[in-house]
Amino acid sequence: MYSATVLQHYRNPKNVGKIDDADGVGVYMSDFCGDITKFWIKVSEGRILDVKYRTQGCAASIACGSILTELVKGKTVDEALKITKDDIISALGGLPETKVHCSVLADDALKDAIRDYLSRNNMHVPEELIEKHERIKPLIEKMEQMGYVLI
Ligand code: FES
Repeated sequence: MYSATVLQHYRNPKNVGKIDDADGVGVYMSDFCGDITKFWIKVSEGRILDVKYRTQGCAASIACGSILTELVKGKTVDEALKITKDDIISALGGLPETKVHCSVLADDALKDAIRDYLSRNNMHVPEELIEKHERIKPLIEKMEQMGYVLI
């Protein structure tokens, strides 16, 4: 069912953890399954020097987060914004159709961390990222108020 690359990243995920002095932090919840992924990025002169993630999700979400950290590390923020779920799927050697949403979750969480970075630095934030953040924010806050430990 899974490619060798997916299994490799699931069994030995890269860049798991958090960055205490991150320049951007993003969290997202999948509309499809309710799983959650969080990304932290460290940026210097517009380039993503370090990236870490955590996920409360399935094997594919672990693999998607892991490969995405590798895809994004060293890229400029603009280059990172152009990465899509299809790039994640392609880098993983494919995903079963029922697991495509796991790549969307990783992508949305990373983009939310970039949104946070741009916002903190008073830089232009693409409207789509603002809309996605505003849509998911009440749900994340409600879950936190209910005592769920989100990552
Ligand atoms: S099943 Fe929820 S992220 Fe994979």
